[in-house]
Amino acid sequence: MSTTDGGPWWRSAVIYQVYPRSFADGNGDGVGDIGGIRTHLGHLRELGVDAIWMSPWYPSPMADGGYDVADFRDIDPVFGTLAEAETLIEEAHAAGIRMIVDIVPNHISSEHPWFKAALADPAAPERELFWFRPGRGENGDQMPTDWRGEFDGTTWTRTPDGAWYLHLFTPEQPDLNWDHPAVRAEFESILRFWFDRGVDGIRIDSAALLLKDPTLPEVVADTPHPFQDLDGVHDVYRAWRRVSDSYAGDRALIGEVWMPEVERFANYLRPDELHAAFNFDLLGCAWDPTLMRESIDRTLHAHAAVGAPATWVLSNHDVTRHVTRYGREDTTFSFHNNLDGTPVDLELGTRRARAAALLSLSLPGATYIYQGEELGLWENEAIPEDQHQDPMWARRGHGRDGCRVPLPWSGDEPPFAFSTATPWLPQPPDWKGLTAQAQSGDPSSMLSLYRSAIALRRDELGLHDSAMAWIDLHPQVLAYCRGAAFACVLNLSDAPVALPDHESLLLASGPLDGDRIPPDTAVWLRMR
Ligand code: GLC
Repeated sequence: MSTTDGGPWWRSAVIYQVYPRSFADGNGDGVGDIGGIRTHLGHLRELGVDAIWMSPWYPSPMADGGYDVADFRDIDPVFGTLAEAETLIEEAHAAGIRMIVDIVPNHISSEHPWFKAALADPAAPERELFWFRPGRGENGDQMPTDWRGEFDGTTWTRTPDGAWYLHLFTPEQPDLNWDHPAVRAEFESILRFWFDRGVDGIRIDSAALLLKDPTLPEVVADTPHPFQDLDGVHDVYRAWRRVSDSYAGDRALIGEVWMPEVERFANYLRPDELHAAFNFDLLGCAWDPTLMRESIDRTLHAHAAVGAPATWVLSNHDVTRHVTRYGREDTTFSFHNNLDGTPVDLELGTRRARAAALLSLSLPGATYIYQGEELGLWENEAIPEDQHQDPMWARRGHGRDGCRVPLPWSGDEPPFAFSTATPWLPQPPDWKGLTAQAQSGDPSSMLSLYRSAIALRRDELGLHDSAMAWIDLHPQVLAYCRGAAFACVLNLSDAPVALPDHESLLLASGPLDGDRIPPDTAVWLRMR
């Protein structure tokens, strides 16, 4: 398991996100599972990824696709058993692939024994592990605060005994009270449980939300936020860092930190806190040379200040797939700007996604690939109303099911060998040209592009050191070198531009126009 920059693996890894319900189904029930992942480990080895990040696979009522965890020390029967998970970790390691598991500390499932005990008896000590509060108003029938939830719903639910409990997400995800020592001790023990099983990293869900202001103030602009990014959260991660540092090997803590202020974001990456965090700045950015360059500069600058590696993410299980995003007129992404159903030019989106792959795989730092991205999958916007499963759908009128559709492996029609049964979400019949099998032998496919780019990234010395310098070629072209001999050039203008002086072409995201790079196309060059 080599690294590209000579430092610890997490500084420069290519990390592949598996959303286990949708990767591959091994037991024929229409839902992906560990058996399916084991069968297709070869796909990931051939792709050349350094690590797998496994979205939650724990026992869960699936009120939020597994991000409502009922037991962090076991595996949901729909995915398999703990023994199978241990076997997968071993097999991945044998294939040279590290494993990252997903821990969700902000909340647990309402089916977790702690919450069941807290609900059963108002005097139970477990109540202190959550945010139970009396309501406002004469009869206590008004919520304790008017906080809006992360899915745009209300954030309090009343119990039969009249008290209210806090949930920033769905009512099935009660928030934990991180001021309670038992909560802190429990999660440190959960980290140890998985580190003891050999996992190489932990992805931390909703990492900035854990602490709440106990006086429960309303959210008021320009005053400290009552439940986001409270200073005390850093003590939690300092303690976690002590846990990860106590293990041999380079175990990494990787935070999901959605935060517009880069300085606040970088605080999570100080040397005694998290090793890395997802950078969503570029993901939300329009397909625009000036804005993209600013985003890249902002990101590198913020990370350099704390000595942390940057990360690059184009898609994940929460956001519209980028083939679709980049095929729209408005190419930005934000949870609050619902573009569902606006016209999409998939050919354009695919061309840009290919170019974006060469960008994100050649910027300094670690790169995340969301399953199916390597196949060029687009968002399924045609899921029938009654088949939507994401709790965000009902609350926001925008859901995340369209990016969670099961992968097409082979064959000419759904279920494309994902399963022998009907998949839990419908696959577009038009994906028949996008199956892993259809793309495998085709040098012009998205899959071949990803395989070549990842292989080159591993071998290319220029991509091993972390320095990057812009080359000013043209105002609407992003061009930079990594070391003296490697350059990436991405044409975001609407006309072809001449290739700069170079020794040889290493890779192109699409056909060139003689010695010119067509619009929405990127190249990797060996420089003289
Ligand atoms: C994170 C997850 C998302 C989940 C939420 C609540 O943002 O990525 O899928 O719904 O946290 O756990």
